[in-house]
Amino acid sequence: MFLLAAGMLCAAAFAASPPAAQAQAAPATTATSTTPAAPATQSAPAAPATPTGHAEFVGADTCATCHAEEAKNFATNPHTKMALMHGNANGVTCENCHGAGSEHVSSGGDVTKIFDPAKGSRKEVDAKCLSCHSGAHPDFMRSPHAKANVGCTSCHSIHGSKEETLLKAPQPTLCFQCHTDTKAAFNMPFHHQVNEGLIKCTDCHDVHGTFEKSNLRSRNDSNLICTKCHTEMRGPFVYEHTPVKAEGCMGCHSPHGSQNARLLNMPSINNLCNTCHSPVASATIHGQGAGSSELAPCTSCHTYIHGSNINVAFLR
Ligand code: HEC
Ligand code: HEC
Ligand code: HEC
Ligand code: HEC
Ligand code: HEC
Ligand code: HEC
Ligand code: HEC
Ligand code: HEC
Ligand code: HEC
Ligand code: HEC
Repeated sequence: MFLLAAGMLCAAAFAASPPAAQAQAAPATTATSTTPAAPATQSAPAAPATPTGHAEFVGADTCATCHAEEAKNFATNPHTKMALMHGNANGVTCENCHGAGSEHVSSGGDVTKIFDPAKGSRKEVDAKCLSCHSGAHPDFMRSPHAKANVGCTSCHSIHGSKEETLLKAPQPTLCFQCHTDTKAAFNMPFHHQVNEGLIKCTDCHDVHGTFEKSNLRSRNDSNLICTKCHTEMRGPFVYEHTPVKAEGCMGCHSPHGSQNARLLNMPSINNLCNTCHSPVASATIHGQGAGSSELAPCTSCHTYIHGSNINVAFLR
C-alpha cells in the first residue's frame, strides 16, 4: 500500500523548493517528546541517491548527529516501529518527510535547504503525508476538513504527540477545540456518552472524509450509521413504521444530545407523534381520551414504535 520509492521522489521535490511561507490553519506543535531512555535510533542505511535535483539522501544517522533529540524519540514513533513490524527494513526515516538533506547538512543546517512541514503550506504537507497514506484515506482532499484548510498536522503531531495514532490531543478534546457547538450538544442532559468515553466521535464520523454527508462512516439515509450498534431497530419488520425508513432515525432523534429523554427532538412524545398523526378518531380507543397529550404517552401502548413483526399498530 505504501510506496517508498514514490515517497522519496516527492521528498526530493520538496527539498528542491524553498518552504512556502503560508501559515497553517492550526499551527503545528513544535514541542518534542521528552520521553526518557528511548532505545538507540534504528540504524537506517543511506537511501538511494535521488535521480534528479541537487540534494541527495544522507540517512537518518547523519541527521542524528545534529538533531539528537528528534532522532532518539523517533525510535518509538509508529513511523519507525510499525513500518519495521510490517517488514519494511528501513522504516520511514527523516528524509521521507523532510526531503533529501545533503545540502542542508553540508551548509551546517541552512533551514532553506530542508523541508519543514511546520512552515510548509497545508496543501504541501497533506500531499507529502498522502504520498504514503492515500490508500487508507483516499477521500481526504475533498473532505470538509481539507476544504476548510484543516490538514493532517492540524490534528496529528509527528514529533510531539503522546497520544495514540499521533494525535495532538485525545478525542473528544481535540475535536472540541474547534467544534464548540458540538461540545454544547454533548453537555445536554441526554447525550451519547462520548465525554464519558463510552463511544467516540469517530465511531460515527471518519474525519478523513467519506462519501456521506457530515463525514459519516456509513449511510445516513438507510440508518446504517445507527443500526450498526442499535441492531434491534434495524428491521426489516413485517409492519414498518413509515418514518423510520422514510425520514430516518434523525426524523425523531438528535444524534449528539438533546434536552429530551431518549435523545428525542421534541419534549413531548405525544406532540412528536401528532406532528404527523392528526388527533385520533372517536370510534377507536383514542375516543375514550387515550392519546390526548395530557394522558399517557402514545408509546405506553404503541410500544414497538420502530416497527413490529406482530401488530400493525405497533402495540406488540
Ligand atoms: C550539521 C548539523 C545538521 C545536520 C547533520 C542536520 N541538520 Fe537539520 N538543522 C541544523 C540546524 C543548525 C538547524 C537550524 C536549527 C534552528 O534554527 O533552531 C536545522 C534545522 C532543521 C529543521 C527545521 C528547519 C526550519 O525551517 O526551522 C529540520 C526539519 C531539519 N533540520 C531536518 C534535518 C534532517 C532531516 C536532517 C538529516 C537529513 C538534518 N536536519 C541534518 C543542523 C543540522
Ligand atoms: C512522517 C513524517 C516525518 C518524519 C519521518 C520525520 N519528521 Fe521531522 N517533522 C515532521 C513534521 C510534520 C514536523 C513539523 C512539526 C510537527 O508536526 O511535529 C517536523 C519537524 C521537524 C523538525 C523541526 C523542529 C521541530 O521539532 O518541530 C526537525 C528538526 C525534525 N522534524 C527532524 C526530524 C528528524 C531528525 C527525523 C528523523 C529522525 C524526522 N524529523 C522524521 C515530520 C516528520
Ligand atoms: C514515506 C511514507 C510515509 C510518509 C511520507 C508519512 N507516513 Fe505516516 N506512516 C507510514 C507508515 C509506514 C506508518 C506505519 C503504519 C503502517 O505500517 O501502516 C505510518 C503511520 C502513521 C500514523 C499512524 C500511527 C498509529 O499509531 O497507527 C499516522 C497518524 C501517520 N502515519 C500520519 C502521518 C502524517 C500526518 C504524515 C505527514 C506529516 C505522514 N504520516 C507521512 C508512512 C508514511
Ligand atoms: C480533524 C482531525 C484529523 C485530520 C485533519 C487528520 N486526521 Fe488522521 N486521525 C484523526 C483521528 C481522530 C484518528 C483516530 C481515529 C480514526 O482512525 O478515525 C486518526 C487516525 C489516523 C491514522 C491511523 C488510522 C488509520 O485510519 O489509518 C492515520 C494513518 C492518519 N490518521 C493519517 C492522517 C493523514 C495522512 C491526514 C492528512 C491527509 C490526517 N490523518 C488528517 C484525526 C485527524
Ligand atoms: C452516534 C453517532 C455520532 C457520534 C458519536 C457523533 N456524531 Fe456528529 N453527527 C452524527 C450524525 C448522524 C450527524 C448528521 C446530523 C444530521 O444529519 O442531522 C452528525 C453531524 C455532525 C456535524 C455537522 C454539524 C451538525 O451538528 O449537524 C459535526 C461538526 C459533528 N457531527 C461533529 C461531531 C463531534 C466533534 C463528535 C464527538 C464529540 C461527534 N460528532 C459525535 C452522528 C454522531
Ligand atoms: C483545527 C480545527 C478542527 C479540528 C481539530 C477538528 N475539526 Fe472538524 N471541522 C473543522 C472545520 C473548520 C470544518 C468545516 C466547517 C464546518 O463544517 O464546521 C470541520 C468539519 C467537520 C465535520 C463535517 C461537518 C459538516 O457539516 O459536514 C465533521 C463531522 C467534523 N468536522 C468532525 C470532527 C471530529 C470528529 C474531530 C475530532 C476527531 C474534528 N472534527 C476535529 C475544524 C476542525
Ligand atoms: C458506536 C455505537 C453506537 C452508535 C453508532 C449509535 N449509538 Fe445510540 N447508543 C449507544 C449506546 C452505548 C447507548 C446507551 C448508553 C448511553 O446512554 O449513551 C446509546 C443510546 C441511544 C439512545 C437512548 C438514549 C437514552 O436516553 O436512553 C438513543 C435514542 C440512541 N442511542 C440513538 C442513536 C441514533 C439515532 C444513532 C445514529 C445517529 C445512534 N444511536 C448511533 C451506542 C451507539
Ligand atoms: C417516528 C419517530 C422515531 C423514529 C423515526 C425513530 N425513533 Fe427511536 N424512539 C422514538 C421514541 C418515541 C422513543 C421513546 C420510546 C419510549 O419512550 O418508550 C424512541 C426510543 C429509542 C431508543 C431508546 C431505547 C428504547 O427502546 O426505548 C433508541 C436506542 C432508539 N429509539 C433508536 C432509534 C434508531 C436507531 C432509529 C432509526 C433506525 C430510530 N430510533 C428512529 C421514536 C422514533
Ligand atoms: C414523521 C411523521 C411521523 C411521526 C413523527 C410518527 N408517525 Fe406514525 N406513521 C407515520 C406514517 C406516514 C405512517 C403510515 C400511515 C399509513 O400507512 O396510513 C405511520 C403509521 C403509524 C401507525 C400504524 C397505523 C396503521 O394504520 O398502520 C401507528 C400506530 C403510528 N404511526 C403511531 C405513531 C406514534 C405513537 C408516533 C409517536 C411516537 C408516531 N407514529 C410518529 C408517520 C409518522
Ligand atoms: C391506551 C393505549 C393507547 C394510547 C395511549 C394511544 N393509542 Fe393509538 N391505538 C391504540 C390501539 C389499541 C389501537 C388500535 C385500534 C384499533 O385497531 O381499532 C391504536 C391505533 C392507532 C393508530 C392506527 C390508526 C387508527 O386510528 O386506528 C394510530 C395512528 C395511533 N393509534 C396513534 C396514536 C397516537 C399518535 C397516540 C398518542 C397521541 C396514541 N395512538 C395513543 C391504543 C393507544
